[in-house]
Amino acid sequence: MTNYIPEDEIEKQKSFLYKIKEINSNFYVRNGRKPRANTETYGCQQNENDTERIRGMLEECGYDFCDSAENADLVIYNTCAVRENAEDRVYGRLGILKHIKESRPEMIIGLCGCMVQQEHIVERIKKVYSHVDLIFGTHALYKLPQLLYETITGNSAVIDIQNSDGAIAEDIPIKRDSPDKAWVSIMYGCNNCCSYCIVPYVRGRERSRKPEKILDEIKKLVADGVTEICLLGQNVNSYGKDLDENIDFSDLLRMVNALDGVKRIRFMTSHPKDFGDRLIDAMVECDKVCPQLHLPFQAGNNRVLKEMNRKYTKEEYIEKIHRVKERIPGIALSTDVIVGFPTETNEDFEDTLDVLRRVEFDNIFSFIYSRREGTPAAKLDFVLTNDEIHKNFNRLLEVQNEISKRKNDAYVGKIVEVLVDGQSKNNAKMLSGRSETAKIVNFRGDESLAGKYVKVKITEAHTWSLNGELIN
Ligand code: SAH
Ligand code: SF4
Ligand code: F3S
Repeated sequence: MTNYIPEDEIEKQKSFLYKIKEINSNFYVRNGRKPRANTETYGCQQNENDTERIRGMLEECGYDFCDSAENADLVIYNTCAVRENAEDRVYGRLGILKHIKESRPEMIIGLCGCMVQQEHIVERIKKVYSHVDLIFGTHALYKLPQLLYETITGNSAVIDIQNSDGAIAEDIPIKRDSPDKAWVSIMYGCNNCCSYCIVPYVRGRERSRKPEKILDEIKKLVADGVTEICLLGQNVNSYGKDLDENIDFSDLLRMVNALDGVKRIRFMTSHPKDFGDRLIDAMVECDKVCPQLHLPFQAGNNRVLKEMNRKYTKEEYIEKIHRVKERIPGIALSTDVIVGFPTETNEDFEDTLDVLRRVEFDNIFSFIYSRREGTPAAKLDFVLTNDEIHKNFNRLLEVQNEISKRKNDAYVGKIVEVLVDGQSKNNAKMLSGRSETAKIVNFRGDESLAGKYVKVKITEAHTWSLNGELIN
């Protein structure tokens, strides 16, 4: 059974939103400008989507946005806990903010997200970074108006890291980054206990949004001009297991596919243990679902997979990939890989390389294992030294880069459909967009094409992107 945050609680938050708006109009009268907010996101798409909600609430509170903390009256960092380096980046930023706040003590500094859903981190922040004014965890996102109001009007730091035990908050304002593509969370949390992973601890247990809420959100997006939808969840294959109605992820895909105005559907992330024919059937039969799949395998060795508690073998994984390739020719595949999991040997690592060579992913997201306090794997010992792990990591990249380039080479001469994002980040004279298979495609064209679907003939392949020419 899915629990919802009661409507009167959401209404209460709206009343705080108006109170802050009033304070901010007084700010305008005094300063001749709106107060400025700077937000930064660390971590995954789920966090990106949460930041869009934060920005939606802040916009309704009367904030303008700016790109740097130096000019901001309010700074909110939405943090990630998945690896140590994600946390270190936040600590680094907090060090810099301390200096800014010394010269502008009225500036408000807020931290939210996965990192601060952990008590030991909050203790450290209180001790070492006492210039942080507001801390709220992943479960308190919807309470931002109240918490921010208390921060603005009170004298001490405001902290809310309570676990709401799986309740979902609907109808939170949102300010989306893109006018054409949108993340849509279909579920929150994760019930898998991969032994290395902190996500289930900081995001809570799995809970699915009701299909009608998801479809309503997508219909509104379409009415606003959005055409590409990415359905988000830590493990989308579990969608619906906690709902009263009899529905699973493949049913949901079909429902989204049937909506007028939606042109492309993507989803992430699928877990290999639950990925099967029902979903492949839906992918084949739904014409708007892009030929693209992100299916993290993490490690190739069966003993390591068992230690990771992933619940599939290398052979099962490869078999599922073969089935997908057979049913959806030309599908682009991507994956996540962890190098240097405790107990992994050089020989075990060879199995990871073997999976790369046999599957031939279009691209991979590779990570060096990072010990996460409180997870079962944190108790395991390492066999390899740091140096050996880094060497393996570099080998992994070498093997994959060659494969990625080869897969991209096969596009040369082909015509692909591209949804244009806008000007390329690396070359102002080029436009950039994504193919159906999520390839970055750069080409010359007028900026007015942003948001449109165009045909591009691929002329050149790189490891990470394709170049091409617009076809009229
Ligand atoms: N729910 C998704 C993504 C989870 S986090 C999934 O299951 O695929 C994204 C990726 O971070 C994971 O797939 C994993 O490869 C990596 N990751 C998670 N915990 C990690 C850790 N402790 N050290 C290194 N990488 C980790
Ligand atoms: Fe973490 Fe595993 Fe859940 Fe993914 S499925 S979020 S890796 S516990
Ligand atoms: Fe990081 Fe939280 Fe996502 S830990 S990867 S931001 S769910």
